[in-house]
Amino acid sequence: MSAMENAARAELPVDRAQRYAALRAEIAAVIAGEPNIVARYATASSLLAQAFPDRFFWTGFYVVDPDKPDELVVGPYQGTLGCLRIPFGKGVCGACAARRESIIVPDVHAFPGHIACDSRSNSEIVLPVFNRTGALAAVLDVDSTEFNAFDAADQSGLEAICADLLTTP
Ligand code: SME
Repeated sequence: MSAMENAARAELPVDRAQRYAALRAEIAAVIAGEPNIVARYATASSLLAQAFPDRFFWTGFYVVDPDKPDELVVGPYQGTLGCLRIPFGKGVCGACAARRESIIVPDVHAFPGHIACDSRSNSEIVLPVFNRTGALAAVLDVDSTEFNAFDAADQSGLEAICADLLTTP
């Protein structure tokens, strides 16, 4: 872990799986009893971005547009300006939404149709967020300026957090 991460959240475990577990508990505690979905997404994007400030260059949600069910529209995020809309099947977020499964992209420049909202992003991970009925509600997109920044530890840690987001009371 870098000095910057250490300064940001020195009390969190250094081990990544443990760090995600601590964040999962923290996010669940903050959103407990809060029914508003924007508040839930905003809480998660803030706590995640603050916990990994060196690796997480852009951290946020693209939500399924209720008026256009095959299109994502930007939701709460931390980072530089994100594009507003992504059709299902386009870019990494759109591919995740269409496949309904997590995608790790070690080099975004090699991903067909990648949408470059910020040219400094070099790798990313995108994970689906399902609601209580099992319908796709959003995707969580995390971008890094480093190549190959994300691995299975990020996927399992973030999937566990995404699984809680709309399902915990
Ligand atoms: N890179 C994403 C687009 C969203 S942003 O980077 C914030 C994609 O290809 O889906």
